[in-house]
Amino acid sequence: MKYDFDEIIERRGTDAYKYVYLKDVCGRDDVLPMWVADMDFATPPFVMRTLQKRLEQRIMGYTCSTTEYRQSIVDWCRSHYQWEIKPEYINYVPGVVAGIYLAIQTFTEKGDKILIQDPVYHPFRFVPEGSDRVVKWNHLVRTESSFEMDFDALREDVKGCKMMILCNPHNPAGICWSRDTLQKVAQICAEEGVLVVSDEIHCDMVLGGHQHIPFATVSEEAGRISITLQAPSKTFNMPGIVCSQAVVLNPLLREKYFSYIENSDMDLGNVFCYSCAAACYTDEGNEWREQMLDYVQGNIDLLADGLENATDKIKVIRPQASFLVLLDCRNLLAQLAGESTGEEAQEKLVRFLADKCGVGFNSGSMFGPGGVGYMRANLGCPRSVVKQSLEQIVAGLATL
Ligand SMILES: Cc1ncc(COP(=O)(O)O)c(C=O)c1O
Repeated sequence: MKYDFDEIIERRGTDAYKYVYLKDVCGRDDVLPMWVADMDFATPPFVMRTLQKRLEQRIMGYTCSTTEYRQSIVDWCRSHYQWEIKPEYINYVPGVVAGIYLAIQTFTEKGDKILIQDPVYHPFRFVPEGSDRVVKWNHLVRTESSFEMDFDALREDVKGCKMMILCNPHNPAGICWSRDTLQKVAQICAEEGVLVVSDEIHCDMVLGGHQHIPFATVSEEAGRISITLQAPSKTFNMPGIVCSQAVVLNPLLREKYFSYIENSDMDLGNVFCYSCAAACYTDEGNEWREQMLDYVQGNIDLLADGLENATDKIKVIRPQASFLVLLDCRNLLAQLAGESTGEEAQEKLVRFLADKCGVGFNSGSMFGPGGVGYMRANLGCPRSVVKQSLEQIVAGLATL
C-alpha cells in the first residue's frame, strides 16, 4: 500500500470538532472518539499540494467555480457511474446539508411535509424542522442483515409530502440501494408529485462487490423529479474545505434551484474548494480512494468478526458503503434498560459504552425513532484504534 493509514495524527488541540464536542456528546473526553463523520487519516497529499499551490498566489480574493472543476465532476460521473452529465447541470453548494437547506427553501413553504426514512442522518430531520417544515417519518424495516424499504408504507406516508430526502448510500446503515428499490421510489414519488433530494455524499465509498447507483439515472422520471447532492469531502477527508455540488437534470428545477443559490451568493465557494475537488476527481484520487477503502474494509472486518466471536449483545451491520458502521445493540440495551424505555434506556446504553468500554460512538436515537437500540461507530481511523476499541468493548461486556 502506497499510503499510510496506520499513522496516528494528534488531533487534540487542533479545533477538531471530534474532540471539541467529545464531552458534550459522549459525557466524557477520555473515550476513543469514534463518532462525527470525518476520518483520522491524513488528508491526501494531492489535496495538500493543491492547498499549498493556492496559498502561493498570496491574494485570497473572491473565487469562481472553474471549468476544470465542473469537467472533473462530469468525467468522474462518467467513469464511475456511467452517468453522462453536462457541466451546466452542476452547481457548487457550501456543503450537502446546506444543499438540502437550499432545496427546502427553494421548493417548499412553511408547514409543508418532508419525508425521511429513519434511522437516518440527523440533519434530514433538523434542517426541515428548523425551517418550520413538518417531518414525515417513513420507517425502514429491519431485515436479518440490514434494513429495507417498505413500499406500501412509503406509498401511504408520502401522500401530501412536497419532498423526500433520500440517503443513497444510506447513513447510518451503509446501504447501497438497488436499482429496483430506487425505481420504485421514483415511481411512487413521481405519482405523488414529490421532489426527491438524493444525498449521495457517501457514493464514492462503496465497499467490495457493491455498487452505487445514482438515483437520477434509474428512470426518466427519477431524473425529472430529483436533485442530486454529492461531495468529495467525506471520501477524501476534507469536509473542513467545504466543497459539495448539486447535479440537476431537469432544466425547470435547475433554473429555480440554481437561481436561488446564486441570488443568495451560496455558490461563492472559498479559495480552496474548486481546485481541491478537481484534484480528488482524478486517477491519483482514485488510487488513494481505493487504498483507503481496502483499509477501512479491514477495520470493519476486525470489529465485526471480533464482536461476532465474542458476544451476541452487539451485532455489526456490515456496511456496503462508507466508514460508518451501525451497531445493533438491542440485546445489550435490553439487559441494561431495567424498567426504562426509549431515550432513557438509550442513555444507559450510551453511558455503558462510554463509562465501561471507553468508546465514544454516536447514539442511534439521534437518527430518529428507528435508531433506538443502535449506535454508530466511525471506523475511519488507524487499525490500532479499532483493535483497542474491540478489546475495550469485550472487557466492558465482561463486567456485566
Ligand atoms: C448523509 C450525509 N449527508 C451530508 C453530510 C454532511 O455533508 P456536508 O458536510 O457537506 O454538509 C454527512 C456527514 O456525515 C452525511 O453522512
